[in-house]
Amino acid sequence: MTVNAHSPITADAAIPASAEEDAIIRFEGVAKSFPARKNSAAVHALAGIDLAVPRSSIVGVIGRSGAGKSTLIRLVNGLEKPTAGRVIVDGTDVTRLDERTLRSVRRSIGMVFQHFNLLSSRTVFDNVALPLEIAGTDRRTIEQRVNPLLELVGLADKRGRYPAELSGGQKQRVGIARALATQPKVLLSDEATSALDPETTRSILDLLATINRELGLTILLITHEMAVIRAIAQRVAVLDAGRIVEQGDVFDLFTRPQHETTRSFLAAESGRELPAFVASQIRPEPVPGGQVVVRIVFRGPFATHPVLSQLARELGIDVNILGGAVDSIAGRPFGTLIVGLPNNGSSLDKALAFLKARDLDTEVLGHVA
Ligand SMILES: Nc1ncnc2c1ncn2[C@@H]1O[C@H](COP(=O)(O)OP(=O)(O)OP(=O)(O)O)[C@@H](O)[C@H]1O
Ligand SMILES: [Mg+2]
Repeated sequence: MTVNAHSPITADAAIPASAEEDAIIRFEGVAKSFPARKNSAAVHALAGIDLAVPRSSIVGVIGRSGAGKSTLIRLVNGLEKPTAGRVIVDGTDVTRLDERTLRSVRRSIGMVFQHFNLLSSRTVFDNVALPLEIAGTDRRTIEQRVNPLLELVGLADKRGRYPAELSGGQKQRVGIARALATQPKVLLSDEATSALDPETTRSILDLLATINRELGLTILLITHEMAVIRAIAQRVAVLDAGRIVEQGDVFDLFTRPQHETTRSFLAAESGRELPAFVASQIRPEPVPGGQVVVRIVFRGPFATHPVLSQLARELGIDVNILGGAVDSIAGRPFGTLIVGLPNNGSSLDKALAFLKARDLDTEVLGHVA
């Protein structure tokens, strides 16, 4: 952590809180099981969950269907109670509250859903106003609160429309405005973009990023799409069969995935997949006179250096580019290239050492003729 040059450093100066310490949501050893019913066994939906969501950050949780994502997010606003462990939201253990206290805590936690959950008989304005009406807010305050929110989500001109008259993206904008009506500290998003096409998804994610930046609102979002994580999250946890199998900084997780589940989520990411013409020929054993297929991950200070042309020039090794993509994640350059290198031991070793010396990760994928 860097020390701010302008902050007075005294013996008793407060130690800056680490992200861990300034978590606005914290899961501590959380487990959730649903009891057995007639004809159905108990379900252990979550186990051993430890997760901290830093204040004003965007944290994503990714997992397959049934992994426990919705259960996890519903623990935050007390819609579910854990079987073990604690869920602390802004200093309050929400697992121990009675229904009445919980209702008031829920006002500080907004939630957005996959299927929007709008009331069809209410206009856009009245849908957004609903949580305020329930909280007993007076009409004047409601007007003052709802109109700027409709501006924020780009729906000022639709305030008198009904949900049936809106597109999916517009409905989700209403859902987001409604979630913000009670001025929450935290926004929970349960697959908010899953029902939307890629372009509309992008615009909704942009809106969430804007809300995070401008209002400093913490967002915990769950998804089954890496693209969503990559677009806006700073940290990510991978949930598999009720357990967090890997978590960390989005850039690190994308560029150095450790767990098999993470790798499989990333497989479809552009540049990581083998091009079809390589995939059809690749084999595990060396091919005499053939090439070794190597994946190079470009990250770190050499990510944007012309490393391959240096390799060719300095070592006299021919590099055959087979596929790949160069992009950025969380604003940091990152690329994946799949290359063919000559299949003779010394050239290959030299090339791999050359790349390693530049802090690039390499992985031998197989051999082609
Ligand atoms: N009320 C419940 N009673 C019994 N089992 C439940 C209940 N709610 C969820 N489960 C089970 O818990 C597990 C996790 O469910 P959850 O809805 O959290 O998954 P998810 O990751 O959100 O999946 P999806 O991506 O399909 O929404 C599943 O096996 C589900 O059947
Ligand atoms: Mg779900």
